Amino acid sequence: MGDVLVQMEGVTKRFPGVNALDNCRFELRAGEVHALVGENGAGKSTLMKILAGVYKKDAGTIRLRGREVEIPSPRAAQHLGISIIHQELNLMPDLTVAQNIFIGRERRPGLPFILDERRINEQTRQLFETMNLRLDPRTKVGELAVAQQQMVEIAKALSFNAQVLIMDEPTAALTDSEIDDLFRLIGQLRERGVGIVHISHRLEELKRISDRVTVMRDGHYIDTVQTNEVSIERIISMMVGRTIFESAPEIPEGADPEVLLEVRGLRRGRSIKDVSFQLRRGEILGFAGLMGAGRTEVARAVFGADPVEAGQIFVRGASVQIHSPQDAVRHGIGYLSEDRKRFGLTIEQDVETNIALASFRKFLGSMGVVNKQAIRDTAERHVKGLAIKTPGVQQRVRNLSGGNQQKVVIGKWLTADTDILIFDEPTRGIDVGAKSEIYKLLNDLTRQGKAVIMISSELPEVLRLSHRIIVMCEGRITGELPGGSATQEQIMTYATQRT
Ligand SMILES: Nc1ncnc2c1ncn2[C@@H]1O[C@H](COP(=O)(O)OP(=O)(O)OP(=O)(O)O)[C@@H](O)[C@H]1O
Ligand SMILES: [Mg+2]
Repeated sequence: MGDVLVQMEGVTKRFPGVNALDNCRFELRAGEVHALVGENGAGKSTLMKILAGVYKKDAGTIRLRGREVEIPSPRAAQHLGISIIHQELNLMPDLTVAQNIFIGRERRPGLPFILDERRINEQTRQLFETMNLRLDPRTKVGELAVAQQQMVEIAKALSFNAQVLIMDEPTAALTDSEIDDLFRLIGQLRERGVGIVHISHRLEELKRISDRVTVMRDGHYIDTVQTNEVSIERIISMMVGRTIFESAPEIPEGADPEVLLEVRGLRRGRSIKDVSFQLRRGEILGFAGLMGAGRTEVARAVFGADPVEAGQIFVRGASVQIHSPQDAVRHGIGYLSEDRKRFGLTIEQDVETNIALASFRKFLGSMGVVNKQAIRDTAERHVKGLAIKTPGVQQRVRNLSGGNQQKVVIGKWLTADTDILIFDEPTRGIDVGAKSEIYKLLNDLTRQGKAVIMISSELPEVLRLSHRIIVMCEGRITGELPGGSATQEQIMTYATQRT
């Protein structure tokens, strides 16, 4: 590790009703990967947004190579060589990949805002080459999967030649091989003396990649330690301030024989090829596969979010027509999307509105008047039950930390009383403590007679929770395994079974 690049001291930040940061410190050296960890809402993103000029600190100092600096805007941060990859993607869906990377930078003299298409496409292509990324710079970002968008964000940050690179959960949506590529890239940057901040809830990752770890809890700095001198258990107990007891794998009782949902012969272009399956009452059906295997596509089609070319859907044995998410909700199907910003939440609205979003009918009184008190009570119950960190149910969802936004989506579908719930990557970005809460919740739901489809890229999670596991590859179901006895190797064999 080299010289000290960044030194933050006494950093304090308040939002209305929230002490996000209290007297926090952070140090980053040249050529180091520094992991920043803590539970949802601990203040990680806020601290790094202050360094990246997104938020103004209330108190404290920031030194860059020993010199005190003010960082009033993201642009100022970029000039100082500080780049951030945000937790929530910030790309413009209607622009191309290259335009997104270079927007606001390449200006021809006298012609502001006009991008030299050919040049930026070429520069983007070169950038992707160093990243080992196969992606056409001319593709519209809106057409990309979440993982690919994440890679574009990373490319954008790299294109600034930053000396300080902050990555706020860059791997949350990536597959293992994409993570390998990213880590190789991080290794190269580290060699070049770049200082890298890595925020992640995947704690095994930080063992692999980081030199030091800083732990935060509830807006406070806890400690900074050398990664190779500390165990994951120790990091977790610093994060939560108590020792978490990881309960043994818990697969609920056998499912009821009643089939709640049946899908027959579902087809949609190249992404869904003749998919059929049954989901029983009280069952958690895991969907495993690599990124792009078609799992999200199946979920979206069943939920009526995308049109299909063929296929029949039966709910409780009766054939149903689902042409829109409204149809799906009416038939008792809920979908917790992997992309909470695009499909799951209206982030400018408050917590209670979002929680009531899929079930307004339920809160309509006899005169057609919305029962606000009932909404408030329900929202407050879920805030408590899911331990959503917010000053109140009237806080705008935009102001919640990433993991807490995810919990609001879960609260929304719990409110909607749907019998069939599709959870797409439900624990992405969720901290260790809250993860086991969500597992418990899924089990409780099945005990109440609901049926759950759980799409997850984390194999241990699929193995731990599912009664049965369906594995997909390239739009097809390639295998089915019993949850209790399946292994990661078996899943991977099916997941890579190309035809
Ligand atoms: N713009 C804002 N307005 C109001 N409160 C905010 C704002 N940004 C963050 N907060 C609050 O500050 C606290 C810290 O949030 P932060 O996003 O830094 O957490 P985090 O550690 O990144 O969590 P996660 O792991 O869930 O992403 C939270 O209570 C959050 O609700
Ligand atoms: Mg965050």
